[in-house]
Amino acid sequence: MNSRVPLKLTVNGETFDIEVEPRWLLSDVLRHQLGLVGTHVGCEQGACGACTVLIDGKPERSCLTFAIQVEGQQITTVEGLTRDENLTPLQEAFSEHHALQCGYCTPGMLLTATALLRLEPHPNERQVREALSGNVCRCTGYQFIVDAILAVAGDTKEDAR
Ligand code: FES
Ligand code: FES
Repeated sequence: MNSRVPLKLTVNGETFDIEVEPRWLLSDVLRHQLGLVGTHVGCEQGACGACTVLIDGKPERSCLTFAIQVEGQQITTVEGLTRDENLTPLQEAFSEHHALQCGYCTPGMLLTATALLRLEPHPNERQVREALSGNVCRCTGYQFIVDAILAVAGDTKEDAR
C-alpha cells in the first residue's frame, strides 16, 4: 500500500514535487530524496545541531521536523549558501581560521552563524557563543569557530555574508 503523499518542497530556491511518507523527517528527505547530503545527521534527537537548516531564515533541527510540516516554507541547506560555486565570506573565514577539523558539525555551524549574522550583523563574542550553544563540535574547542564568525562580523564590506 502506498502511504506516500505529494509534497512541494522549496529548497535553496528550487521547488521539488516529491512524494513522502508523513512520518519521514526533513533531514532524511533532504539527504535521501533530494541528494542534499550536506545536511548531516548526528544524534537524531535534537541535541547536536549537525542537522541544522534554515526554515524561513530561522535555524531549525531538520531531525525534529517532518518534511510535510514545511510545505510552503523556504528551506536553506548548506548547499544553498554558496553563490556561483564560490565560498561565501563566512565559509572563507572558516577555512582561514581553521574552524573545522572533521567537518561534521560545519554545515550546522555555518547555517546557525548565517542566521545570526543576518539578524545581528556585528555580534560580540558572547552573542556568537550564545548562538552556537545548540551546535556541538567534538574537534575544534569552538574558539576558532567563534574567531571565524567574529572576523566576518568585523568585515564592513557590503554583502560580507
Ligand atoms: S542530528 Fe539533529 S540535532 Fe543532532
Ligand atoms: S569539526 Fe569535527 S565536530 Fe566540529
